[in-house]
Amino acid sequence: MLIFPESRKKILVTGGAGFIGGAFIRNLLMTTQMKIYCIDKMGYASDLTSVTKTISLLGDKAKDRFTFINSNIADKIALEKAIDISDPDIVVHLAAESHVDRSISNPSIFVESNIIGTFNLLQSLLNHWENLTKERKNNFRIIHISTDEVFGSLGESGYFVETSSYDPRSPYSASKASADHLVKAWFHTYNLPIIVSNCSNNFGPWQFPEKLIPTAVIKASTNKNIPIYGDGRNIRDWLFVEDHVDALQAIINKGKIGESYCIGSQNEKSNKQIVQLICKVLDKQRPDLAPHSKLIKYVSDRPGHDHRYAIKPLKISRELSWKSKSNFQECLENTVIWYLNNSTWIETVMQKSNYKGERLGLNV
Ligand code: NAD
Ligand code: TYD
Repeated sequence: MLIFPESRKKILVTGGAGFIGGAFIRNLLMTTQMKIYCIDKMGYASDLTSVTKTISLLGDKAKDRFTFINSNIADKIALEKAIDISDPDIVVHLAAESHVDRSISNPSIFVESNIIGTFNLLQSLLNHWENLTKERKNNFRIIHISTDEVFGSLGESGYFVETSSYDPRSPYSASKASADHLVKAWFHTYNLPIIVSNCSNNFGPWQFPEKLIPTAVIKASTNKNIPIYGDGRNIRDWLFVEDHVDALQAIINKGKIGESYCIGSQNEKSNKQIVQLICKVLDKQRPDLAPHSKLIKYVSDRPGHDHRYAIKPLKISRELSWKSKSNFQECLENTVIWYLNNSTWIETVMQKSNYKGERLGLNV
């Protein structure tokens, strides 16, 4: 439950039509009375179905609390207008191009959205913040959502923590690292009240079909090969999206300005392991097609493929009392079942974005 001070009434969520932004907004609608403004350029991965469904469940009051602004944060004038309209007390900055494979094929849009977009946001918010009343100014916060990928690639041991050195290796992570540096510079130079979070790989319902978990479910359930890059030994540290939302709430409520917090729930799995777990769930759900693992196909590796990401979330646990609450196996199972039950949504978003499930990120 969010316990915002009275003076924090309006929240601006950038990238709210994306996977994590949608989960965050649904939670705000259900657990607060805040006025929510969502700015999104409605890119290929955007979809507001989950938010509109929540609003219709909650009724007219919720409808009045939600405003959608279809704008690109790389467009300075449009962004300034959105900030004027929303007049925010809190900004949660999630807008970014987010897929590593797409960053390999088309890096320029990552520079535009993730770096220029963040720069525009910082400049516009600095102007907004400087003109707030004293009380609103004191309570104002910007939460910049980054990724553990900015720290590079781990070997078999060790963990990312807040003091890990930046060592991005993909166009995506380099653009996110650049944004983090800009954000930290705006804190140190202009005192803009910013907090950074670096989280691990999220999973859950409503994630665009290009990422590993939805890809594996969708391919296997339609009797197509499940592509695993390289030897399948690359490791990711999986975080259920609702746990991430919970951590963001803790940061908004209790996070210290100028600090960064690593968010993860210590669920390290190799890609081979996670795909096999997904296949087991599918075997239970669709025994007629078992064993789904026969569909696993090792394909050529991602260029510059980071070997391992893993977060030690000690700081957020000690200082903000946050710990992930979800049971990984249960959430993975429910996520797989969600994709099985939502084939119409999958078809709609894939059609809208002209994504046909093809391999991305090889055409360097
Ligand atoms: P997503 O791709 O599902 O959603 C991102 C949203 O941002 C999209 O709706 C897109 O249209 C919007 N957007 C992109 N550029 C924009 C621009 N220039 N102007 C306005 N809107 C723009 O991504 P996600 O998984 O929800 O990720 C959200 C944030 O979390 C990103 O900043 C990402 O880097 C970060 N993150 C994600 C993960 C993950 O596993 N998904 C892990 C770590 C960090
Ligand atoms: P992804 O979901 O794209 O997230 P990220 O690149 O941000 O970690 O990929 C997760 C892991 O799965 C990564 O090591 C690449 C791998 N992968 C596959 O093996 N096959 C696939 O089809 C995809 C999309 C990813």
